[in-house]
Amino acid sequence: MGAYAQTAQTTDAARKPANVVVLATGGTIAGAGASASNSATYQAAKVPVDKLIAGLPELTSVANVRGEQVFQIASESFTNANLLQLGKRVAELAASNDVDGIVITHGTDTLEETAYFLNLTVHSEKPVVVVGSMRPGTALSADGALNLVNAVTVAGDPTARGQGVLAVMNDEIHSGRDVTKAVNIRTDAFRSPWGPLGMVVEGKSYWFRAPVKRHTVNSEFDITQISELPRVDIAYGYGNVSDVAYKAFADAGAKALIHAGTGNGSVAADVVPGLRALREKGLFIIRSSRVNQGGFVLRNAEQPDDKYDWVVAHDLNPQKARILAMLALTKTQDTRELQRIFWEY
Ligand code: DGL
Repeated sequence: MGAYAQTAQTTDAARKPANVVVLATGGTIAGAGASASNSATYQAAKVPVDKLIAGLPELTSVANVRGEQVFQIASESFTNANLLQLGKRVAELAASNDVDGIVITHGTDTLEETAYFLNLTVHSEKPVVVVGSMRPGTALSADGALNLVNAVTVAGDPTARGQGVLAVMNDEIHSGRDVTKAVNIRTDAFRSPWGPLGMVVEGKSYWFRAPVKRHTVNSEFDITQISELPRVDIAYGYGNVSDVAYKAFADAGAKALIHAGTGNGSVAADVVPGLRALREKGLFIIRSSRVNQGGFVLRNAEQPDDKYDWVVAHDLNPQKARILAMLALTKTQDTRELQRIFWEY
């Protein structure tokens, strides 16, 4: 572990510069392309964390920063083991008196899943900020540099304490719970269906709302107490769909299935009998919505969830519902408890 660059000047005369650790995992923010015109053609997960930090002298006026290379992978390849390892390191650092905030550089593809997982399992009020970029640092108008400076700014800002795990992208501060990658080719790629929490402008955080769902120190899930995650899979709903995928995931050992349903998490008539049979066998069926700007699945609206003993994912998209379902199944095998958890987190 490197020493902090002890050259930071406090941005607030009354406040000593924060100590911020940057945990690097890979992704485009560590990517490199063949030329400046390659904003979409490049290799992710190439540039090491110390080079990322050294390439940003502006960081020294924001905080005392040091880096750790946890992984160097494209985030579509993140596994449950990666999530557990990263979460445990974040928790360790957050427990250290020498650390005021943590930034995680991450690929944007699954950034939202990691941010939600940490939001649910890291028991600390210290700012934890996940950040990525849509263009590699080698491209014209690369967004990674300012995204990283903004992320360190928020991670070192006492006003970010207690806000849950955050995602900082494109000058916006998002809740790790709500944020999702809505566009895959623009720098304004990330959205929260109910809006960002705030903005970062010229080195200062501005807040407009706070999270109300349970997170971090108010979560019943604690990364230090979790050693493995049960298998939960996602199957998509669409026209002419059959129950083949659901049955295949069940045969592969899934303990719960996230139904990424059309509209209000609807289930095709041809699929209902197969899902009911899987529930009878003990798998949990959780209805989410495939709509990408804020699904909202109501119990007993388009499906008799009480009768079928199914769970609804509330406003969580399928990939976030999977994260919560894995954690919930480390605590309970009761449908009513599962549904409580989906209402509260
Ligand atoms: N392979 C993708 C990932 O690591 C690149 C996308 C990105 O990081 O922006 O998530």
